[in-house]
Amino acid sequence: MTRRSEQISLHLNAYLTAHSTPPDPVLRELATETAERFPSEVTLQVAPEMGTLLTLLTRLGRARSGIEVGTFTGYSSICIARGLGSGGRLLTCDVSEEWTSVARKYWEKAGLSDRIELRLGPALGTLRSLPEEEAFDVAFIDADKLSYPKYWTELVPRVRSGGLIMVDNTFSHGRVLDAGNDNPSVIAVRTMNDHAAADDRVELIMLPIGDGLTVALKH
Ligand SMILES: C[S@@+](CC[C@H](N)C(=O)[O-])C[C@H]1O[C@@H](n2cnc3c(N)ncnc32)[C@H](O)[C@@H]1O
Repeated sequence: MTRRSEQISLHLNAYLTAHSTPPDPVLRELATETAERFPSEVTLQVAPEMGTLLTLLTRLGRARSGIEVGTFTGYSSICIARGLGSGGRLLTCDVSEEWTSVARKYWEKAGLSDRIELRLGPALGTLRSLPEEEAFDVAFIDADKLSYPKYWTELVPRVRSGGLIMVDNTFSHGRVLDAGNDNPSVIAVRTMNDHAAADDRVELIMLPIGDGLTVALKH
């Protein structure tokens, strides 16, 4: 178990995971290789149960086009790409050549190379280079927390009506509750959470899974 929910006990999280669709061999191998090669960064990867939820939500939304901010070694990109309908395309953004080289290897293993495109470079630049039109059915934000408010601003107009915007780490490990915490990343996540909750373009729910997953449906 690489990570657990911030909200429920270790035992209940183990039970929850045992009663959810487990990761397949490709995802398990990816998680193992990531833990071996990047032990200090392994917690960057989405939790297995969150991966399962990303696939389900993408599928439920009948999404065909997706965008992800924060690829790392590819776990969530595989989960989202698998949920896309036939002919689906996922654009994923990251700055690390090293980490995303692992992602490329596992996209190949998962038979998803033809539906995932990686853009290397600061994600804000990538997002701003895309036409400001409703092009995506699903968006997932999971990169540098300082830019969360800007990612929200750039992504909402680019998601179609009826599409989903999903954001990881919206609890910031519980630190969002501590009004005295002036860590810039925590302030940025809190700012985005407040802004999203007041954004009348979406209807949303914050789920206590992993480190908090916000799921917003665009009107
Ligand atoms: C939490 S990890 C993403 C984990 C990934 N979703 C997964 O399931 O494995 C955050 C990623 O954001 C990337 N990142 C950090 N700053 C970035 C930026 N300005 N633009 C794009 N990616 C960035 C990091 O290189 C890292 O791979």
